[in-house]
Amino acid sequence: MSTIHLKTFPSVPSLNQAVAELIMTIAGNAIAERGRFVISLSGGQTPRHLYSLLADPDFRNRIDWKNTFVFWGDERCVPVEDDRNNAYEAKKILLTKVDIPVSNIHALPVELPPDEAAIQYEKTLRDFFGDQPLQFDLILLGLGTNGHTASLFPGLQLLNEQAAGIRAEYVEEVNMYRISMTANLINQARNIVFLVSGEEKALVVKEIVTGTGKADQYPARLIKPIQGELYWFLDKAAASLLQS
Ligand code: 6PG
Repeated sequence: MSTIHLKTFPSVPSLNQAVAELIMTIAGNAIAERGRFVISLSGGQTPRHLYSLLADPDFRNRIDWKNTFVFWGDERCVPVEDDRNNAYEAKKILLTKVDIPVSNIHALPVELPPDEAAIQYEKTLRDFFGDQPLQFDLILLGLGTNGHTASLFPGLQLLNEQAAGIRAEYVEEVNMYRISMTANLINQARNIVFLVSGEEKALVVKEIVTGTGKADQYPARLIKPIQGELYWFLDKAAASLLQS
């Protein structure tokens, strides 16, 4: 049975500080126990402040980057060097500033057609994990105002995918193909961390955290770790509709 940790912070900087410290703890434990830290990053605007905080010497010097392996939970099918590309942004803000071997960074191959890219990325995961389950130490997730997370958008076939894998699907709402981890792959993680801030997310946070919203309407409700820990780290604004 997984444990849910819901924490609210007074400001975005204090929220990001707390998530950065949580990442330090999970990374340290993973490397101590298994010799490596396997993290999946999220995209969009929210994590950018977190990534720049992790690039700060106070944090970047506390991670053993040589034993840290970076993947993404989803990607937009846009050019590799496009500001909308999640990996491009994370590399620019964080990964080019730390001494992580390039071979430890696994961006989704968006230069391929969407379905091929999804097949290729799932193969990359299976090659990386070998005969072990596809189990990340930490999967960082954001939340859209429509309840999507990763690229699990309302109404997609992807929501019904039972496999723990990577799928591509055209998303009308954003007029582009997206490639995403399935909910079942995310749920295999040891730690899943939702990082959410802003007044505009308060309603969707309430619908999902209090469990009133239906999963197909609010796909983030599909995220329930099988055995891992689930963290909802919110700023005061995003938590403003939750009872104290
Ligand atoms: C993406 C993300 C997505 C994001 C939410 C929230 O590729 O866009 O993975 O799931 O986390 O859309 O985005 P913001 O942080 O920009 O609000």
